[in-house]
Amino acid sequence: MAEQAGDPLFQSHDPIFDRKELLHVGHVPDEDRIVGRDDEIQSVAAEVGAITRGDPPNNVMIYGKTGTGKSLISRHVATRAQTAARSNDIDCGVLYIDCSEANTETRATRQLALSLKDQTGYQENIPLRGVGTMEYYQHIWGILENFFDAIIVILDEIDKLDNSNILMQLSRAREAQKTDAYIGVIGISNKVKYRETLDERIDSSFGHRELFFHPYDASQLREIMRNREDAFQPEVLEDGTIELCAALAAKKHGDARKAIEILKEAGELARRTGSETVSESHIQQAQEVAEINRIEELTSGATVHAKLALYALASRIITGDRETHKTREIYERYVGICNMVTTDPITENGLYRQLKEQAFLGVIESEKTGGGRSQGSYLLHRLVTDPKHIIKAVRRDDSLEELPAYDQLADTGAADNRDADLSSFS
Ligand SMILES: Nc1ncnc2c1ncn2[C@@H]1O[C@H](COP(=O)(O)OP(=O)(O)OP(=O)(O)O)[C@@H](O)[C@H]1O
Ligand SMILES: [Mg+2]
Repeated sequence: MAEQAGDPLFQSHDPIFDRKELLHVGHVPDEDRIVGRDDEIQSVAAEVGAITRGDPPNNVMIYGKTGTGKSLISRHVATRAQTAARSNDIDCGVLYIDCSEANTETRATRQLALSLKDQTGYQENIPLRGVGTMEYYQHIWGILENFFDAIIVILDEIDKLDNSNILMQLSRAREAQKTDAYIGVIGISNKVKYRETLDERIDSSFGHRELFFHPYDASQLREIMRNREDAFQPEVLEDGTIELCAALAAKKHGDARKAIEILKEAGELARRTGSETVSESHIQQAQEVAEINRIEELTSGATVHAKLALYALASRIITGDRETHKTREIYERYVGICNMVTTDPITENGLYRQLKEQAFLGVIESEKTGGGRSQGSYLLHRLVTDPKHIIKAVRRDDSLEELPAYDQLADTGAADNRDADLSSFS
């Protein structure tokens, strides 16, 4: 062992990071590192807090974009409520279910039953398969009966559940005399649209409050990152790096997870290039990589036509002199690109629908413009991000990597022949 530590092949000391784990994606920060969400913590506590006094809690739905602290704050408040309840001699359980994995009622109830069993001395065997939802509910009520005065159930990514029966069962359990325990449900979704469908899916028994978590602003992101500065060795972060990282992330999305990832990526970049410090330029480069990853994620479920449409719009912006383009203009370029990758183009109307979908994903913005009396109105589309990132993200699709890279497009654009010069495109 001792010899290994001295092997020059492996540096014994990381020159950049001291506690890198603070920047890992799955890392859950300690209580004292949670910042900028005091109001939200208060609001969630106000809904479920009655449990700590032996009173019935409210159910609550939390909505907000990705990386706004919904999962973190929910778990944080639930755990604190549990501790506070215990100090009042109330047995309160906290159950966390990720509905993106447990996405059916059977899976969700099974996980609920198993986690409840884990937290108690429940003796009965809970089968992993071969039984239905009803049997899992029986176990749940049985465990509640014997071990708990109250539970808080967090249903994260609740929009992934194929039906909302579990919400009804949990909220009606007392009324239906399945259990005497109080049950507080915290539902979480980053799809605000889910809200509309939820009302149709559930009845009044799931009476619930709604909370909205907003994207972080630059000063909150700064605070979140400052609180993890000790991930780095002393003096490694140059002045202004955290401020720059926060400003860029706030401008793009206000997502804390992404901001932290950029900081980590900047550190890795510094280390790879043998730099002793992390500079603003490392942050800039890391932000580019992160932005391309983000677009790749956003478009990962999109069709190849949507990707080609995005590529068409980006390439027009790069080779032309305008930021906004009509559907028709994008379509013409798109058809040319389809020829290059030997794909049959879809209709203009089909493409228009794809563009609307991208607008929904937040990759492009579309605006209706009056085209004068004879022309009628038409849509103008723009990218919300640097076209360079779109080109890179689209080319990461294996079937599209032969498309011209950004540099090739930029050279063509500089040749001043602009659109006409792209004979290979349209
Ligand atoms: N207020 C905060 N203070 C410190 N760190 C935070 C804060 N908010 C978020 N983070 C960091 O960002 C990560 C992402 O937050 P969280 O998982 O709560 O986001 P989310 O809103 O649930 O996103 P998604 O919709 O993608 O699930 C957390 O694990 C944590 O590291
Ligand atoms: Mg979450």
